[in-house]
Amino acid sequence: MSIQQEKISALVERRGKVRLGGGEKAIAKQHEKGKYTARERLSMLLDEGSFEEMDMFVEHRCTNFGMEKKYIPGDGVVTGSGTIDGRLVYVFAQDFTVTGGSLSEMMAKKICKVMDMAMTMGAPVIGLNDSGGARIQEGVNALGGYAEIFERNILASGVVPQISGIFGPCAGGAVYSPALTDFTLMMEGTSNMFLTGPKVVKTVLGEDVTAEDLGGASVHSTKSGVTHFTTPTEEEAIATIKKLLSYIPQNNMEEAPMTACNDPIDRADDALNEIIPDNPNQAYDMYEVIRALVDNGEFFEIQENYAKNIIIGFAHFNGQSVGVVANQPKFMAGVLDCNSSRKAARFVRFCDAFNIPLVTLVDVPGFLPGTGQEYNAVILHGAKLLYAYGEATVPKVTVTLRKSYGGSHIVMSCKQLRGDLNYAWPSAEIAVMGGAGAAGVLYAKEAAEQTDPKAFLAEKEAEYTKLFANPYVAAKYGYIEDVIEPRNTRFRIIRALAQLRNKKQNVPAKKHGNIPL
Ligand code: HXC
Repeated sequence: MSIQQEKISALVERRGKVRLGGGEKAIAKQHEKGKYTARERLSMLLDEGSFEEMDMFVEHRCTNFGMEKKYIPGDGVVTGSGTIDGRLVYVFAQDFTVTGGSLSEMMAKKICKVMDMAMTMGAPVIGLNDSGGARIQEGVNALGGYAEIFERNILASGVVPQISGIFGPCAGGAVYSPALTDFTLMMEGTSNMFLTGPKVVKTVLGEDVTAEDLGGASVHSTKSGVTHFTTPTEEEAIATIKKLLSYIPQNNMEEAPMTACNDPIDRADDALNEIIPDNPNQAYDMYEVIRALVDNGEFFEIQENYAKNIIIGFAHFNGQSVGVVANQPKFMAGVLDCNSSRKAARFVRFCDAFNIPLVTLVDVPGFLPGTGQEYNAVILHGAKLLYAYGEATVPKVTVTLRKSYGGSHIVMSCKQLRGDLNYAWPSAEIAVMGGAGAAGVLYAKEAAEQTDPKAFLAEKEAEYTKLFANPYVAAKYGYIEDVIEPRNTRFRIIRALAQLRNKKQNVPAKKHGNIPL
C-alpha cells in the first residue's frame, strides 16, 4: 500500500470511528429506550445525500478528572448543513451515546459555528437536543459554551427561523436555548425539560415528582406552554419540523414559499351562513370556520393543547402562507386571558418578523375577570398581544364573526391598531360591553326606584343590545371596511391579501421597543 493509500485508509478509519459515536453498546441502549441516534435523526430530517458534515474531528481539551484520556467522538454533537425539500438548513444533533450528549466548550464551538453560518447564509437553524446538560467535568467552560449559544440564539431571533427538537433530556440552563428559539417540539414519553430536576426538587422542597410530571411533553404542551408541538414518535417529530418549515421563509428578508393552489379562490361555503347560533350564548367550533376558509381545509396548528380559548397556526390562502389567529368560542367562550394572550402574542410577533401575513378571526366576549387573572398580571399579558398586533407591519386582515367587546375588541387586531382590512359578518357585535353589563352600570339607580327592577333592566338591556350589538355602528365610523356575507369570506380574505401584497409600513426608528414582559 502506498503512503497516500495508507493515509486515505486512516481517514476512512477515523471517519468510521467518529460515525460510530459511543459505540454499538451505547447505540443499542439508545434504541432500547425507543430513541434514535443523532445521525439517524439527521438522516431522517435532511434530503437524502444532502448532509454536509462539519467538524467531525473536533475533540474536547478538558484535562480535569482524567478527561485527557477520554476520547469523545465529535465531542458529542453532529453538526453541518443540508437541505429539506431542497432548501438550505443548518443543523446540530447532540449525540446521547457519547457522554450523554453533555455540552462542552468544544461542542458549543461546533454549534456556534453552524449558527454563525446560518446567519451569514440566511438559513434556518434546527437543533436536535438530547443531552445531560453541562459537561460536569468542564465546569465554567461548559457554562461559557452555553452562554455563547444563547447569545447567538438572541442575535438570530427575528433574522433566521430557529427550531428546537427535544429528543431526550434537556435540563438545567440547557433549556434556555430552546426557550429562545421560535419553535420547540417534544417527544411524548422520552423527552423532558426542566430547570431543576426531580432530585433537586426533593432536596429543596421535599416534593416527590417524576421527571415526566415535572417537565414531560404533556406538562409543557398543556400547562406551561413551553413547547409548541408534541409527537408520539421521532418519525412524526421529524415530519412536523419539515411541515413547519414549508410555511416559513428562510430568513427575515424573504417571503414564505408559495404553494400551488387547486382550491377555487372563490369557493363559497353556504354552511358558514348558518354556523353562528341564534342564541349568542351558544358555542360553535372555530375549527370548522378555519377549515372552511383555508386552502383545501389544511390547517397546521401550533400549541393546540395549550390555552385552547385561542387558536393559532399556519394555513395557505391561494397558496400564500398566512398566520391564523382565532378565538375559540367552544373553549371558555373564547375569552382572552393570561395564557391565550401570551400564546397569540408570540405567534403574531413570529409572523411579523418573518413577513407572514396575519388573518384574525374574532369572536371574543372580553377578558376573563377575577383575582386569578389579575394576580397573574393579565394586564401585562393582554398588553403583549396588544403590542404585538399594534407593532406588526405585515398585512393584517381581520374578520369579526360574532362578539368583539371592550378591550378584547381593541386587542384582536382592530382597525386602530393599524389593521389593514377589517370585515365583519352580519352577526357581529362590536361594542364596549354586553347589553346586561351596560344596563347594570347605566341604570342601576333608576332600576332600584322601579317596582320591577328586573324587568326594567331587561328592557334597557334589550335597548342597548339592539343599538350596539351589531356591526353597523363600527361600519358607520369606518372602523370596519365592510360587512360581508359569511359564505364569501374565503374569497374576501384572498382578495384582501392580494391587495396587501406589496404593503410597506414602518415603525418609528428606535433601538427596540419595550414590550410589557
Ligand atoms: C458529563 C454526563 C452528563 C453530564 C450524563 N453524562 N450527563 N457526563 N456531564 N452532565 C454521562 C453519564 O456519566 C454516562 O456516562 C452517560 O452520560 C450516560 O448517562 P446515564 O446517566 O447512564 O444515562 P441515563 O440513565 O439515561 O440518565 C440520563 C440523565 C443523567 C438523566 C441525563 O445522566 C443525568 O442526570 N445527568 C446529569 C444531569 C445534570 O445534572 N446535568 C447538569 C445540569 S447543570 P458513561 O461514561 O457512564 O456512559 C447544567 C447547567 C447549565 O446543565 C447551565 C447553563 C446556563
